[in-house]
Amino acid sequence: MSLTLRRYAIAFALTLAPASAEGDTLPIPHQKWPFEGPTGTFPQDALQRGYQVFKEVCSACHGVGRISYGNLTKIGLPKEAVKALAAAHEQPDLNEEGQPVQRKGILSDKIHAPYPNDKAARAANNGALPPDLSLMTKARAGGPNYVYALLTGYCEAPPGTTITEGMHYNPYFPSRQIAMAPPLSEGQVTFADGTKATVDQMAKDVVTFLSWAAEPEMEHRKQMGVKVLFYLLILTVVLYLSKRKIWKDVE
Ligand code: HEC
Repeated sequence: MSLTLRRYAIAFALTLAPASAEGDTLPIPHQKWPFEGPTGTFPQDALQRGYQVFKEVCSACHGVGRISYGNLTKIGLPKEAVKALAAAHEQPDLNEEGQPVQRKGILSDKIHAPYPNDKAARAANNGALPPDLSLMTKARAGGPNYVYALLTGYCEAPPGTTITEGMHYNPYFPSRQIAMAPPLSEGQVTFADGTKATVDQMAKDVVTFLSWAAEPEMEHRKQMGVKVLFYLLILTVVLYLSKRKIWKDVE
């Protein structure tokens, strides 16, 4: 569904919603994701665009602290470029004498978080905590569909709703008022592959990247599952044939 259509659909659903339902969220629409299903995979081009959106937009407030710079080479980014990304941030470490020092980041370091701790993060965001996004697509009901709906679902509040200062209306967020301002706007990033940076496109790509970040080994797990099923199928045929052979003289 196009974004404009979605906006109309949201506005329509809001007019139907009874006043008492304020606070309830809209049902989350299901999107088609290439990484779903038993043979789903993460397309590298979407992952790279998604990482670009994360880096240029979301990483101002959110971390993805469970993945390391080295992991980024798995989405097809050149190793040298990733090394440079890691080296751009100093990391705390211990020297030979066990004294705390700062050193240049290396591939095995976790991706740099924008704030040193939760207190600093809240202080910079009107008291709201921008959560780490590493496991976000697994942590919320609706998973990738929820994160996509949240990013694209900002709209005008229905008449009569009082929006608390510093909050923004979003019918997919549990309380319908979220401290995060709409993070995406048309043409916010420039994709190297020429893909048009619509809100819808950036949201899809960043959700694909976050789904990969939540489970970088998913493709391997699924491939293994398919191999195991194939193996079991062959084994079943072999066992069936040997059973027929062994029992063929027994009435
Ligand atoms: C200017 C800071 C800022 C930017 C940029 C930003 N966010 Fe947020 N985000 C927040 C804050 C603050 C919250 C907490 C909101 C709350 O609890 O009301 C949040 C919450 C979230 C949540 C959690 C919602 C929930 O169910 O709890 C998700 C998912 C999210 N952001 C995704 C993103 C993505 C993806 C991007 C980049 C496209 C992004 N954010 C960019 C500040 C930001």
